[in-house]
Amino acid sequence: MTITPFSFTTVSEIHVQWEGSARLGELLAERFDARNLLLVTDRGLIEAGLIAPVQAALTQAGFGVTLFDDVVADPPEAVVRACAEMARSEKIDIVLGLGGGSSLDIAKLVAVMIGSDQDLSTMYGIGNVAGARVPLALVPTTAGTGSEVTNISIITTGETTKMGVVSRQLYADFVLLDASLTVGLPQVHTAATGIDAMVHAIEAYTSKHKKNPLSDALAREALRLLGANLITACQDGTNRAAREAMLLGATLAGQAFSNAPVAAVHALAYPLGGHYHLPHGLTNALMLGPVLRYNATAAAPLYGELADVMGVAGSGDAQARSEAFVRHIEALMDASGAPRRLRDVGVTDNSLSMLARDAMKQTRLLVNNPVEVTEDDALSLYREAF
Ligand SMILES: NC(=O)c1ccc[n+]([C@@H]2O[C@H](COP(=O)([O-])OP(=O)(O)OC[C@H]3O[C@@H](n4cnc5c(N)ncnc54)[C@H](O)[C@@H]3O)[C@@H](O)[C@H]2O)c1
Ligand SMILES: [Fe+2]
Repeated sequence: MTITPFSFTTVSEIHVQWEGSARLGELLAERFDARNLLLVTDRGLIEAGLIAPVQAALTQAGFGVTLFDDVVADPPEAVVRACAEMARSEKIDIVLGLGGGSSLDIAKLVAVMIGSDQDLSTMYGIGNVAGARVPLALVPTTAGTGSEVTNISIITTGETTKMGVVSRQLYADFVLLDASLTVGLPQVHTAATGIDAMVHAIEAYTSKHKKNPLSDALAREALRLLGANLITACQDGTNRAAREAMLLGATLAGQAFSNAPVAAVHALAYPLGGHYHLPHGLTNALMLGPVLRYNATAAAPLYGELADVMGVAGSGDAQARSEAFVRHIEALMDASGAPRRLRDVGVTDNSLSMLARDAMKQTRLLVNNPVEVTEDDALSLYREAF
């Protein structure tokens, strides 16, 4: 078979090391000349005790460290602007994001805003960031969003809406995967963020326009790692091998979907996050089952391949394997302990048509789905998830 032309982009360097964050000072000092560092994180991580040792390691290695810890989940524009302002007034010349997707997304944007007078409002969309950024290092503490290796920052722009900045400048220079940082992540976050990562792998593998041999290879290996370790990581958060596999899997899935974008699960998840302020991973977990069943016939050959990748027992034609894949994913979600129905997380019956209307705005994502989703289809999918 011949290869359809494609491009693949990712970050420059990924360093994988259990407890590597204790060495972050020397790792960064070896690679960058800049020494006036902004550490972007949220208060939950400070309370979890994850930040102080890193700060000490950075200071030890000769960095001046300014701490910005005002990141909140699903960060609004005001947080980005406040962080950029602090960075400018402190004359920051290197940015380190340490935390979940929310902290990393802010760090990425601020690294480009420091030296630029471009207003944030003109950066949304694809390829709209002008200019260069200061050096950027990212250290994830959830195994979920893959933000450490994507060129995307997601910002809450209104009461109920989120917008994405997608630009090559948002690819970091250096990523550290230290799974020891994820050990204290509570079970429900482990489940939801882990399922988010699985959705990235599945949606990248079936992405209609940009899937390619590299994104496929990454998505397959990501799903193999995530599927085999999700339940162990949820049930025993201190299991090192499971935590390492989940973090690596989430990063590989991030590399995949940064090049082969996600689709209907994410399109239907975003309105739930917007209107009900539910965590991103959880909203994906809630919509995954219905969307997989909706796609199962059109995507049968690909879902069948993923069944093999995950070692799902049984045999049969592509349709049978596709159905077995969907059942396997649902069983994993049941065992993970993540909430499974919209009604269980406070979503009301009478909001479903509004959610369906909002989901239609996610055209950037819907075009990647293996099957077209109309507003009526979206409503049926929300009803099924209810
Ligand atoms: N840039 C991308 O490519 C991309 C992709 C998907 C989602 N996102 C965005 O990422 C955000 C969600 O990120 P997230 O799911 O990683 O969660 P998060 O960053 O919003 O963090 C959620 C909570 O978990 C806590 N936490 C994080 N790590 C912890 C740890 N190791 N131990 C204890 N507590 C910990 C945080 O303090 C916070 O309270 C959303 O804004 C979403 O839109 C970005
Ligand atoms: Fe996601």
